[in-house]
Amino acid sequence: MRGSWKPARASSARPDRRRALPHGSAARPDAWPRFRTHPAAPVIIALHAPHSSARTAAVLTGPSSATTPHAVTTAETARPGTRPPVVEAVALTKKFGESVAVDGIDFVVREGECCGFLGPNGAGKTTTVRMISCVSPVSGGEIRVFGMSVAEEPRRIKALMGVCPQEDNLDPDFSVLNNLLVYARYFGIPRREAAGRAEELLEFLQLKDRAATKIRTLSGGMKRRLLIARSLVNRPRLLLLDEPTTGLDPQARHLIWQRVRALKKLGTTILLTTHYMEEAAQLCDRVVFIDHGKVLAEGSPEALVRENVTPDVVEIVGAGEDLLRELAAMDVQVEPLPDRVYAYTDRGPEVHKLVTERFPVEQCLLRRGTLEDVFLKLTGRELRDH
Ligand SMILES: Nc1ncnc2c1ncn2[C@@H]1O[C@H](COP(=O)(O)OP(=O)(O)O)[C@@H](O)[C@H]1O
Ligand SMILES: [Mg+2]
Repeated sequence: MRGSWKPARASSARPDRRRALPHGSAARPDAWPRFRTHPAAPVIIALHAPHSSARTAAVLTGPSSATTPHAVTTAETARPGTRPPVVEAVALTKKFGESVAVDGIDFVVREGECCGFLGPNGAGKTTTVRMISCVSPVSGGEIRVFGMSVAEEPRRIKALMGVCPQEDNLDPDFSVLNNLLVYARYFGIPRREAAGRAEELLEFLQLKDRAATKIRTLSGGMKRRLLIARSLVNRPRLLLLDEPTTGLDPQARHLIWQRVRALKKLGTTILLTTHYMEEAAQLCDRVVFIDHGKVLAEGSPEALVRENVTPDVVEIVGAGEDLLRELAAMDVQVEPLPDRVYAYTDRGPEVHKLVTERFPVEQCLLRRGTLEDVFLKLTGRELRDH
């Protein structure tokens, strides 16, 4: 059985209030941060009031702006390539018995960037996220987060990090608001402060009118939004979003995209996993393709498209042998699929014109090469059902 993000019940003196441990770990309450902010932690979050341009970018800073420098300064001034790594993994390995889920990977997530982890089901993305979030111990290699080892400093790391897990581990017994308030307690956030943050977060994720609602009556989209709100309660400098938009309708997905962009703009470092290549292309500065526990490629979405696929792709339904011969003669690379062929070219309009004017095909579509083409090229077209 796969590891669950569901928090374990802690054997605490106050079991009723100790259930929703941050990041879904089975760790004991005493393993959780007791301090409110790391000395080096600028605490920052962007709250965009929905539908109100006048109130956009109300920025909440930490307890004292004098002692907590504003992360956005660093993020805005440093060039992306020169920023220090917030997460650094070296030869990172995770084994479950004999099976190797993460196979000696190296990667970095740099300060202020949105880094995407992309790969088919079972690639090792969630396992990696769980190791970064100090929930799952590493089997080999090392991860440092903010320069600290996950093995040695999990409490300090957790204080600086927010996690939206792939699987919903909200507490079904509590209301929307209480899920946030109970979670805030594990970071030692005083009651009044927690109430203020919860209110702002509910507004940020458009859940204000659901504050009193029980979790089990929420839609899937609302639960995802609440998980994101909860991950922001401690005003993290690093946010891990594991498939935050899977199964959501376009409205909910676009709202989450807006919020991710707002957080990024204000300096939050984000690691995002997604199966939606358009989402990765829209949000990520850099993506890392993972499959079978190994890194296949990494780079900006634009660079990966440029390096791995042609600028244009012509999709043709009903191509006959004569057309395929013609395309081969033009040095167009053709990929035959059961119901269509893909013609990869840097002369898309020319190929499209040739096909539509000279060959009686059923359909001919000219489009740009995309990150989805890169994904399929790198990981293949075979299904990965589990
Ligand atoms: N707790 C676990 N026990 C055994 N195998 C696991 C566990 N968690 C994940 N795996 C396996 O590790 C591999 C990677 O899984 P996962 O990290 O969830 O992939 P992804 O998030 O990329 O879909 C899969 O083969 C999965 O079945
Ligand atoms: Mg996963």
